[in-house]
Amino acid sequence: MNDVPVHAAAAGSAAIRVRGLERRFLSGGQQLEILRGVDLDVAPGEAVAIVGRSGGGKSTLLHLIGLLDRPDGGSIELEGIDVGKASRRVRDTLRRDRLGFVFQFYHLLPELTAEQNVLLGAMIGVSPFQWMTSRKATRAAARELLERVGLADRANHLPNRLSGGERQRVAIARALLRQPALLLCDEPTGNLDERTSGEIEELLLAIRRERGAAMVLVTHNLRLAHRLDRVVRLEGGRLHAVQAPGTAEGAVPLTMA
Ligand SMILES: Nc1ncnc2c1ncn2[C@@H]1O[C@H](COP(=O)(O)OP(=O)(O)OP(=O)(O)O)[C@@H](O)[C@H]1O
Ligand SMILES: [Mg+2]
Repeated sequence: MNDVPVHAAAAGSAAIRVRGLERRFLSGGQQLEILRGVDLDVAPGEAVAIVGRSGGGKSTLLHLIGLLDRPDGGSIELEGIDVGKASRRVRDTLRRDRLGFVFQFYHLLPELTAEQNVLLGAMIGVSPFQWMTSRKATRAAARELLERVGLADRANHLPNRLSGGERQRVAIARALLRQPALLLCDEPTGNLDERTSGEIEELLLAIRRERGAAMVLVTHNLRLAHRLDRVVRLEGGRLHAVQAPGTAEGAVPLTMA
Protein backbone atom coordinates (compact mmCIF):
# COMPACT_ATOMS: atom_id res chain seq x y z
CA MET A 1 0.00 0.00 0.00
CA ASN A 2 2.92 2.31 0.64
CA ASP A 3 3.75 2.24 -3.03
CA VAL A 4 0.56 3.93 -4.28
CA PRO A 5 1.89 7.23 -5.67
CA VAL A 6 -0.93 9.33 -4.31
CA HIS A 7 0.80 12.63 -4.49
CA ALA A 8 2.31 12.29 -7.90
CA ALA A 9 -0.28 14.84 -9.06
CA ALA A 10 0.32 17.20 -6.17
CA ALA A 11 2.83 19.69 -7.55
CA GLY A 12 1.26 23.14 -7.88
CA SER A 13 -2.19 21.94 -6.83
CA ALA A 14 -4.43 23.39 -4.16
CA ALA A 15 -4.53 21.39 -0.95
CA ILE A 16 -8.34 21.30 -1.27
CA ARG A 17 -10.63 22.27 -4.12
CA VAL A 18 -14.32 21.69 -3.49
CA ARG A 19 -16.95 22.52 -6.11
CA GLY A 20 -20.74 22.39 -5.85
CA LEU A 21 -20.68 19.88 -3.01
CA GLU A 22 -24.09 18.47 -2.05
CA ARG A 23 -25.13 16.16 0.75
CA ARG A 24 -28.67 15.09 1.65
CA PHE A 25 -29.92 12.88 4.43
CA LEU A 26 -33.21 11.07 4.81
CA SER A 27 -34.62 11.67 8.25
CA GLY A 28 -38.08 10.57 9.38
CA GLY A 29 -39.18 10.19 5.76
CA GLN A 30 -37.99 13.74 5.04
CA GLN A 31 -35.13 14.75 2.76
CA LEU A 32 -32.73 17.13 4.55
CA GLU A 33 -30.60 19.18 2.16
CA ILE A 34 -27.59 19.84 4.36
CA LEU A 35 -24.97 20.94 1.82
CA ARG A 36 -26.37 22.74 -1.23
CA GLY A 37 -23.40 23.58 -3.38
CA VAL A 38 -20.35 24.20 -1.22
CA ASP A 39 -17.29 25.73 -2.90
CA LEU A 40 -13.98 25.89 -1.01
CA ASP A 41 -10.34 26.41 -1.98
CA VAL A 42 -7.55 25.89 0.50
CA ALA A 43 -3.98 26.59 -0.61
CA PRO A 44 -1.08 24.43 0.60
CA GLY A 45 -0.22 25.55 4.12
CA GLU A 46 -3.30 27.77 4.45
CA ALA A 47 -5.48 27.58 7.57
CA VAL A 48 -9.22 28.11 7.18
CA ALA A 49 -11.78 28.21 9.99
CA ILE A 50 -15.37 27.12 9.40
CA VAL A 51 -18.01 28.58 11.70
CA GLY A 52 -21.79 28.36 11.63
CA ARG A 53 -24.79 27.33 13.65
CA SER A 54 -25.14 23.91 15.19
CA GLY A 55 -26.67 21.43 12.76
CA GLY A 56 -25.62 23.52 9.77
CA GLY A 57 -23.48 20.75 8.29
CA LYS A 58 -19.92 21.64 9.35
CA SER A 59 -19.03 18.12 10.50
CA THR A 60 -20.76 16.71 7.44
CA LEU A 61 -18.51 18.86 5.23
CA LEU A 62 -15.37 17.90 7.15
CA HIS A 63 -16.23 14.20 6.87
CA LEU A 64 -16.60 14.55 3.11
CA ILE A 65 -13.26 16.35 2.76
CA GLY A 66 -11.72 13.72 5.07
CA LEU A 67 -12.98 10.88 2.84
CA LEU A 68 -15.09 9.45 5.65
CA ASP A 69 -18.28 9.91 3.60
CA ARG A 70 -19.30 10.43 -0.03
CA PRO A 71 -21.22 13.42 -1.44
CA ASP A 72 -24.49 13.34 -3.40
CA GLY A 73 -23.16 15.89 -5.88
CA GLY A 74 -20.16 18.06 -6.68
CA SER A 75 -16.46 17.30 -6.50
CA ILE A 76 -13.52 17.28 -4.11
CA GLU A 77 -9.88 17.45 -5.14
CA LEU A 78 -7.15 16.86 -2.58
CA GLU A 79 -3.68 17.85 -3.76
CA GLY A 80 -4.91 17.71 -7.33
CA ILE A 81 -6.52 14.27 -7.04
CA ASP A 82 -10.23 14.04 -7.84
CA VAL A 83 -11.16 11.81 -4.92
CA GLY A 84 -14.64 11.05 -6.27
CA LYS A 85 -13.02 9.27 -9.21
CA ALA A 86 -10.14 7.74 -7.25
CA SER A 87 -10.06 4.04 -6.42
CA ARG A 88 -10.76 2.91 -2.92
CA ARG A 89 -7.08 2.10 -2.50
CA VAL A 90 -6.00 5.62 -3.41
CA ARG A 91 -8.66 7.09 -1.09
CA ASP A 92 -7.49 4.86 1.77
CA THR A 93 -3.86 5.79 1.19
CA LEU A 94 -4.69 9.49 0.98
CA ARG A 95 -6.66 9.27 4.19
CA ARG A 96 -3.85 7.49 6.00
CA ASP A 97 -0.85 9.38 4.64
CA ARG A 98 -2.00 12.88 3.70
CA LEU A 99 -4.81 13.67 6.16
CA GLY A 100 -4.71 14.11 9.91
CA PHE A 101 -7.89 14.26 12.00
CA VAL A 102 -8.53 15.82 15.38
CA PHE A 103 -12.06 15.46 16.77
CA GLN A 104 -13.92 17.01 19.70
CA PHE A 105 -14.17 13.72 21.58
CA TYR A 106 -10.64 12.47 20.77
CA HIS A 107 -11.71 9.05 19.40
CA LEU A 108 -8.94 7.16 21.16
CA LEU A 109 -9.23 3.40 21.57
CA PRO A 110 -9.68 2.79 25.32
CA GLU A 111 -7.78 -0.50 25.47
CA LEU A 112 -4.63 0.91 23.81
CA THR A 113 -1.97 3.03 25.50
CA ALA A 114 -1.23 6.58 24.39
CA GLU A 115 1.68 5.36 22.28
CA GLN A 116 -0.32 2.53 20.71
CA ASN A 117 -3.10 4.98 19.85
CA VAL A 118 -0.56 7.20 18.11
CA LEU A 119 0.83 4.20 16.19
CA LEU A 120 -2.51 2.80 15.14
CA GLY A 121 -3.04 4.98 12.07
CA ALA A 122 0.36 4.03 10.70
CA MET A 123 -0.50 0.31 10.89
CA ILE A 124 -3.66 0.47 8.81
CA GLY A 125 -3.27 -1.21 5.44
CA VAL A 126 0.40 -2.03 6.06
CA SER A 127 1.52 -5.62 5.50
CA PRO A 128 3.12 -7.51 8.42
CA PHE A 129 6.43 -7.42 6.56
CA GLN A 130 6.26 -3.65 6.02
CA TRP A 131 5.30 -3.21 9.65
CA MET A 132 8.20 -5.36 10.86
CA THR A 133 10.70 -3.36 8.83
CA SER A 134 9.33 0.06 9.75
CA ARG A 135 8.24 -0.63 13.34
CA LYS A 136 11.32 0.66 15.10
CA ALA A 137 11.44 3.98 13.27
CA THR A 138 7.67 4.44 13.57
CA ARG A 139 7.76 3.83 17.32
CA ALA A 140 10.60 6.31 17.66
CA ALA A 141 8.53 8.85 15.71
CA ALA A 142 5.52 8.21 17.96
CA ARG A 143 7.66 8.76 21.08
CA GLU A 144 9.05 11.96 19.61
CA LEU A 145 5.56 13.24 18.88
CA LEU A 146 4.33 12.39 22.37
CA GLU A 147 7.27 14.37 23.67
CA ARG A 148 6.41 17.28 21.35
CA VAL A 149 2.85 17.44 22.70
CA GLY A 150 4.16 17.31 26.28
CA LEU A 151 3.29 13.69 27.09
CA ALA A 152 6.69 11.98 27.12
CA ASP A 153 5.95 10.47 30.53
CA ARG A 154 2.44 9.32 29.61
CA ALA A 155 3.25 7.04 26.66
CA ASN A 156 2.17 3.90 28.49
CA HIS A 157 -1.01 5.30 30.01
CA LEU A 158 -4.45 4.17 28.92
CA PRO A 159 -6.80 6.99 27.83
CA ASN A 160 -8.96 6.66 30.96
CA ARG A 161 -5.88 7.62 32.99
CA LEU A 162 -5.50 10.84 31.02
CA SER A 163 -7.30 14.16 31.36
CA GLY A 164 -9.35 15.59 28.47
CA GLY A 165 -6.53 17.90 27.46
CA GLU A 166 -4.02 15.05 27.57
CA ARG A 167 -6.29 12.86 25.46
CA GLN A 168 -6.53 15.61 22.89
CA ARG A 169 -2.73 15.87 22.88
CA VAL A 170 -2.54 12.14 22.10
CA ALA A 171 -5.06 12.65 19.29
CA ILE A 172 -2.94 15.49 17.90
CA ALA A 173 0.18 13.32 18.02
CA ARG A 174 -1.75 10.55 16.26
CA ALA A 175 -2.89 12.96 13.55
CA LEU A 176 0.71 13.99 12.88
CA LEU A 177 2.42 10.61 12.68
CA ARG A 178 2.30 10.32 8.89
CA GLN A 179 3.23 13.98 8.39
CA PRO A 180 -0.09 14.97 6.83
CA ALA A 181 -0.36 17.80 4.31
CA LEU A 182 -3.83 18.58 5.59
CA LEU A 183 -5.11 18.74 9.16
CA LEU A 184 -8.86 18.46 9.65
CA CYS A 185 -10.02 19.55 13.10
CA ASP A 186 -13.64 19.36 14.24
CA GLU A 187 -14.16 21.49 17.37
CA PRO A 188 -10.82 20.33 18.79
CA THR A 189 -11.23 22.48 21.91
CA GLY A 190 -15.00 22.12 22.20
CA ASN A 191 -14.94 19.69 25.11
CA LEU A 192 -12.26 21.34 27.24
CA ASP A 193 -12.25 23.96 29.99
CA GLU A 194 -11.09 27.45 29.07
CA ARG A 195 -7.51 27.10 30.20
CA THR A 196 -6.93 23.65 28.66
CA SER A 197 -8.70 24.80 25.54
CA GLY A 198 -6.24 27.70 25.30
CA GLU A 199 -3.28 25.31 25.67
CA ILE A 200 -4.56 22.96 22.97
CA GLU A 201 -5.24 25.95 20.71
CA GLU A 202 -1.64 27.16 21.09
CA LEU A 203 -0.31 23.65 20.48
CA LEU A 204 -2.35 23.16 17.31
CA LEU A 205 -1.39 26.55 15.88
CA ALA A 206 2.29 26.05 16.72
CA ILE A 207 2.33 22.60 15.19
CA ARG A 208 0.65 23.82 12.03
CA ARG A 209 3.30 26.53 11.66
CA GLU A 210 6.12 24.04 12.27
CA ARG A 211 4.75 21.52 9.79
CA GLY A 212 3.48 23.93 7.16
CA ALA A 213 0.35 21.79 6.80
CA ALA A 214 -2.91 23.20 5.49
CA MET A 215 -5.71 23.19 8.04
CA VAL A 216 -9.48 23.25 8.06
CA LEU A 217 -10.77 23.83 11.55
CA VAL A 218 -14.42 23.83 12.61
CA THR A 219 -15.08 25.85 15.73
CA HIS A 220 -17.72 27.77 17.65
CA ASN A 221 -14.94 29.90 19.11
CA LEU A 222 -14.74 33.06 16.98
CA ARG A 223 -11.59 34.27 18.68
CA LEU A 224 -9.81 31.07 17.68
CA ALA A 225 -11.35 31.22 14.19
CA HIS A 226 -9.90 34.67 13.59
CA ARG A 227 -6.38 33.51 14.49
CA LEU A 228 -6.41 31.47 11.28
CA ASP A 229 -5.71 32.86 7.80
CA ARG A 230 -9.37 33.01 6.80
CA VAL A 231 -12.84 32.42 8.22
CA VAL A 232 -15.86 31.12 6.32
CA ARG A 233 -19.39 30.61 7.61
CA LEU A 234 -21.55 27.64 6.64
CA GLU A 235 -25.06 28.95 6.23
CA GLY A 236 -27.98 27.73 4.15
CA GLY A 237 -25.86 24.84 2.91
CA ARG A 238 -23.16 27.08 1.40
CA LEU A 239 -19.95 28.77 2.55
CA HIS A 240 -19.75 32.55 2.87
CA ALA A 241 -16.62 34.64 3.53
CA VAL A 242 -16.41 36.27 6.96
CA GLN A 243 -14.41 39.45 7.37
CA ALA A 244 -11.87 39.84 10.13
CA PRO A 245 -13.09 42.01 13.01
CA GLY A 246 -11.89 45.59 12.71
CA THR A 247 -11.70 45.66 8.90
CA ALA A 248 -13.41 48.41 6.87
CA GLU A 249 -17.04 47.34 7.21
CA GLY A 250 -16.41 45.82 10.62
CA ALA A 251 -19.66 43.94 10.24
CA VAL A 252 -18.59 40.71 11.81
CA PRO A 253 -20.96 39.56 14.53
CA LEU A 254 -18.93 38.45 17.52
CA THR A 255 -21.48 35.93 18.67
CA MET A 256 -22.29 32.79 16.78
CA ALA A 257 -25.51 32.48 14.82
N1 LIG B 1 -25.91 10.22 8.75
C1 LIG B 1 -26.89 11.12 8.94
N2 LIG B 1 -28.17 10.79 8.76
C2 LIG B 1 -29.17 11.69 8.93
N3 LIG B 1 -28.95 12.98 9.25
C3 LIG B 1 -27.68 13.37 9.44
C4 LIG B 1 -26.58 12.47 9.30
N4 LIG B 1 -25.44 13.15 9.55
C5 LIG B 1 -25.82 14.41 9.84
N5 LIG B 1 -27.16 14.54 9.77
C6 LIG B 1 -27.89 15.78 9.98
O1 LIG B 1 -27.29 16.79 9.21
C7 LIG B 1 -27.32 18.03 9.91
C8 LIG B 1 -25.93 18.59 9.99
O2 LIG B 1 -25.17 17.85 10.93
P1 LIG B 1 -23.66 18.20 11.29
O3 LIG B 1 -23.25 17.24 12.33
O4 LIG B 1 -22.86 18.26 10.05
O5 LIG B 1 -23.81 19.68 11.89
P2 LIG B 1 -22.72 20.62 12.56
O6 LIG B 1 -22.73 21.91 11.81
O7 LIG B 1 -21.44 19.90 12.65
O8 LIG B 1 -23.32 20.87 14.02
P3 LIG B 1 -22.55 21.05 15.44
O9 LIG B 1 -22.03 22.47 15.42
O10 LIG B 1 -23.64 20.86 16.44
O11 LIG B 1 -21.49 20.02 15.54
C9 LIG B 1 -27.97 17.74 11.26
O12 LIG B 1 -29.33 18.12 11.18
C10 LIG B 1 -27.82 16.26 11.42
O13 LIG B 1 -28.86 15.73 12.20
MG1 LIG C 1 -20.27 19.18 14.23
